[in-house]
Parts: sequence; structure tokens; C-alpha cells
Amino acid sequence: MKLPLIVFTLVVIIQFSECRHTDSSWLPSIYNVVANKTSQIRNYVRAKTRSLKHFYVENVRNKITSYLGVDDEQKVLNATEGDPQTRLKRKFRGYIDTAQNTDKNVFDTIAPENIEYRCTEDDPDVHMTTPQLLASNGYTAEAHTIVTDDGYILTVHRIPFPKNSSQKISPRKTVLLHHGLLGSSADWVIPGPRKGLAYILSEAGYDVWLANARGNTYSRAHVSENVDSFAFWNFTFHEISQHDLPAVIDYIMDIKGWDVKINYVGHSMGTTVLFALLSTKTQYNKVLRAGFALAPVAYMTDIKSPIRLLAKYSHNIEYLMKLLGANEFLPQNAVLRWLSKHACEINHYEEVICENSLFVFCGHDVKQFNRTLLPMILGHVPAGASTRTLIHYAQEIRNDGRFQQFDYGPDENFEKYGSPTPPEYPVHKITLPIALLSAENDWLSGDVDVTNLYVQLSNPIEHYIVPLKEFNHIDFLWGIDAPTLVYDKLLHLLEEGVSKSFVNVINPDIETNELK
Ligand SMILES: *[C@@H]1O[C@H](CO)[C@@H](O)[C@H](O)[C@H]1NC(C)=O
Ligand SMILES: *[C@@H]1O[C@H](CO)[C@@H](O)[C@H](O)[C@H]1NC(C)=O
Ligand SMILES: *[C@@H]1O[C@H](CO)[C@@H](O)[C@H](O)[C@H]1NC(C)=O
Ligand SMILES: *[C@@H]1O[C@H](CO)[C@@H](O)[C@H](O)[C@H]1NC(C)=O
Ligand SMILES: *[C@@H]1O[C@H](CO)[C@@H](O)[C@H](O)[C@H]1NC(C)=O
Repeated sequence: MKLPLIVFTLVVIIQFSECRHTDSSWLPSIYNVVANKTSQIRNYVRAKTRSLKHFYVENVRNKITSYLGVDDEQKVLNATEGDPQTRLKRKFRGYIDTAQNTDKNVFDTIAPENIEYRCTEDDPDVHMTTPQLLASNGYTAEAHTIVTDDGYILTVHRIPFPKNSSQKISPRKTVLLHHGLLGSSADWVIPGPRKGLAYILSEAGYDVWLANARGNTYSRAHVSENVDSFAFWNFTFHEISQHDLPAVIDYIMDIKGWDVKINYVGHSMGTTVLFALLSTKTQYNKVLRAGFALAPVAYMTDIKSPIRLLAKYSHNIEYLMKLLGANEFLPQNAVLRWLSKHACEINHYEEVICENSLFVFCGHDVKQFNRTLLPMILGHVPAGASTRTLIHYAQEIRNDGRFQQFDYGPDENFEKYGSPTPPEYPVHKITLPIALLSAENDWLSGDVDVTNLYVQLSNPIEHYIVPLKEFNHIDFLWGIDAPTLVYDKLLHLLEEGVSKSFVNVINPDIETNELK
């Protein structure tokens, strides 16, 4: 996307240098050579610009229009009214024509501006880090630095004991919270005391640890790789599950003793990494006490999120990287702006919400959304994710929702996995007691997929469906009624669920998984 800009700059420089030729007439021979070279470069650049524009207009337009099914141009052009999908398609045609006429790239015509949400500057919370937020509410907060076996430097936050604890000793009961895609440890504290899950668990007597996956605001460092490099961003949720999670779990065990039993609570991608870990590094089934998956994401056949629009292109990794940014998935990326428009024109959300990548991918539910939190949310998310993680999810959607490892293409797959297609995660190997908490209106975690996952678990605790129709993916974090609809249930399952519903005939060892 930067190339047209560079080309443009070049043209300007060249034209500028040309203007000076009257001054340099005292050196005619050199001038002629330079002028000749200049005009050659200029012609070259002009030709390139034309072909770039041609590329965008032809290539991108054809791909997207054919995907949207805008084949019957007349029909589409003709529809002044009709259903929203037809109107959208028509509008999209219009965008492309405008792009063609105004010499712009298609996506920039669609969503030309980045909208910045203007927060009232007198709200300091908006810019605070997770430990600062915790401290400002009177809680003791810790930040721990953990280095993974592949060199990523992670920051894990912790609320070691409840606010009013008389002796400052951390409880044995331990819970590790893991955020989802584009999230961070802040996700769990944004709603504030008595509403945010981190606070609620602390008050319920847990030692609360808040993970931050590689690449997010708090874990954006590496022992040797530059944070701007491709090598740094060359990861998907698979690497988070294989390196970050083990490092964090091992670290907590180092601090609290090998016999500590950690409860794992994940949201969205935070559940994907748990399932990926437990099905591949199976020893962690015995290390943890139980898993609690909020808005679980493993199989992806039933996706309403606009991420499915990317699925179409997911076999062409280079193309997607070109569109989305090769390294970090940039929230203000033009493609995302287009996707957000697409979602918003159907749903009539307001622009600051529409422009935020988290809402774009995860949806937004007006009734459960506490507007007071908006400045805080916009100040903390998106917290960073790799483009590869998005592509990995998009690949799963394309491959009939299979929960599988990254697809590098047949040749590289063969080298890495010994087969032309990537292996599925062997979900049947998960023996940890697991509860799934899902919602009907979830754009990313559909009922069919969650049920399919649940029936394969060896030690299921419960599949709880939030009893509210509108409840959506991010309502698990910030929904007005999340404390009553989700966290009460979660606390109950944490205290009672594991021992009661836990039947293990295969592995009697795990029966020692009692609450310490
Ligand atoms: C510029 O260079 C080309 C080939 O290098 C030559 O044919 C042409 O006559 C030159 N033009 C001028 C104005 O010197
Ligand atoms: C619109 O559709 C009608 C028939 O459905 C056709 O006669 C007319 O030419 C179309 N108009 C345009 C602008 O394509
Ligand atoms: C902590 O103690 C203070 C004073 O005893 C009380 O007002 C406050 O509600 C307590 N907070 C919590 C979260 O229990
Ligand atoms: C990216 O990761 C893949 C898989 O781990 C590896 O094969 C490849 O060499 C990496 N590329 C770079 C540039 O680090
Ligand atoms: C919305 O969030 C604010 C700030 O945390 C809180 O004071 C308020 O009670 C919340 N409103 C509802 C309806 O939960």
C-alpha cells in the first residue's frame, strides 16, 4: 500500500528538480544527460503508476466483486432499493468506479479517513496501564517478566491478594486469565471493581494472574529480534499455545510451588490457545486444575464475523499479507476499514465503534454495551496481534472450520508436518476438566461449533449457554450483565463444578485435582 505513495513522491521530486534547469544552463552537456535520465525515470515511473492502478482496479475489483456475487452488473446498477445486501453491492460498485476515476486505490476510496475518538482528557484511566488501573482502585498489582523458550519477552500481571486482605499473603487458589484476539490483560479490568472479572475473582479469594500474549501492548519485545521485523511477527495462535502458555504456567509454578493447581479462564483466542496446548503438549492436562472457556473458539463452521470475508483469500498468504500488512495486523488498515463499513452499513453502529477492529471482528450488542466504558475500551484495544493469526483463523474457516495448524502450502506443509495438509489438533487428547460458556448471538463462537467441541471433551464440566439472546462475543468481558449472567456461574463452576461433575475413568491421577 505504501508503493503508490513512494512513486508519487518520486514524481514530485523529479518535477521539482526539472524546474531548476534554467539555472543550470551554464553546464549544458551534463544538464542534457541529467534531463534525459530524468525523463526516462519519469516515463518509467508513470508507466509503473499506471500498471499499479491497473493492478488494483482489475485485480482487487474482480476478486471482491466476484466474491460478493456482483456478476449481474445491470441488476445491481439498477437496484435503487431492495435488500441491504444488494444495496451494499451496488455501493461497492460505485466505490470502485470512483477509485478508477479519481486515480485512488479502491480501499482508500471506500474508507478515506481514520476517525479518532476524542476522549475527554480529564479521564486519566484511558491512558493507564493494567497495573496502574488496579492500583488506582486500591489493589496491589504486580508485573512479572517472563522470557519464552523462543525469546519473546512477556509481561504477566497479577493481583496477588484481595484488596482488604489483612495478611498480605496470596491465596493458594490460583487463576490464570487469558485475553482474546487483539486483547490484553486490561480486558479483564476495564469495567472496574465489582464488574471486571479480575476484580471479582480477586475478591472471591483467588490469586489472579493476567497473561499477555506475544505482540500485544505489554509483550512487545524479544531478546534478539526487532519489534518491527517480520521475524518478530511471524507467529500465529499456535506459537502462543506452544511457547507463551507453557512459559507462563511454568513460571507461576516456580513462584507458587510445583503442586499449585492453576485454573485457566480464557476468552476467545485465549480458549483457542488452551485447546491447542492441551491437545499437543498433553502433560499440561495434569498441571492445570480445570479450564473455563468464555466464548470458545476451536471449530469455525458457523462464523458471522466479517473475518469470513478474508477466508476466501486465505490460501494466498502473500496476497493477504499485502492487504493486511505483513507483520502486525494494523488496526487502521484500509481493508479493515472496508470490512468495518460493511458490518456497519448493515448494522447502523456509530463510527467510533465501527472503526475499532475488535468490534469489527467480534460484533457489538447495543443493549449490553455500557457506553461509559467506551473511552476506556478505545484507549486499550486493539492491543496488537499478528496478521498471521488472522490468516490462521481465516484458513480454518475456508477449510470447513477444521481446527488445524497453520497451512503453509503443500510443499512447506510436507516439510513441516510430513503431509501436504496441516494436521488437525487432536482434541480427543484433552483430558483436563473443561467448562464451555457460550452465547447464541456470538459472531465467532457459533452454537454448532461449541457443541461439536463439547462432545469431544473427555472431562466436560458443563456447557453453559448465556440465557440472553443478544449476548455477544465481547459481552463476556464488558457486558452490563456479565457479572450476573456469566461470572456468577463461572464462580460457581470454579468452586463446585470441577469435583462434582468430574468423572474420570481413564486417568485416576487427575482426581487429585482438588481445590487447594
Ligand atoms: C536520450 O538518450 C537516448 C538513449 O539513451 C537517446 O536516443 C536520445 O537521443 C537522448 N535524448 C537527448 C535529448 O539527449
Ligand atoms: C433496469 O431494468 C430494466 C428492466 O428490469 C431495464 O429495462 C432497464 O434498462 C434497466 N436500467 C438500467 C440503467 O440498467
Ligand atoms: C474494604 O474495606 C473498606 C473499609 O473497611 C470497605 O469500605 C470496602 O467496601 C471494602 N472493599 C471490599 C472490596 O471489600
Ligand atoms: C517463519 O516461521 C516459520 C515457521 O515457524 C519458519 O519456517 C520460517 O523460517 C520463519 N520465517 C522467518 C523469516 O522468520
Ligand atoms: C458502566 O460503567 C461505569 C464505569 O465503570 C459504571 O460506573 C456503571 O455502573 C456501568 N453501568 C452499568 C449499567 O453497568
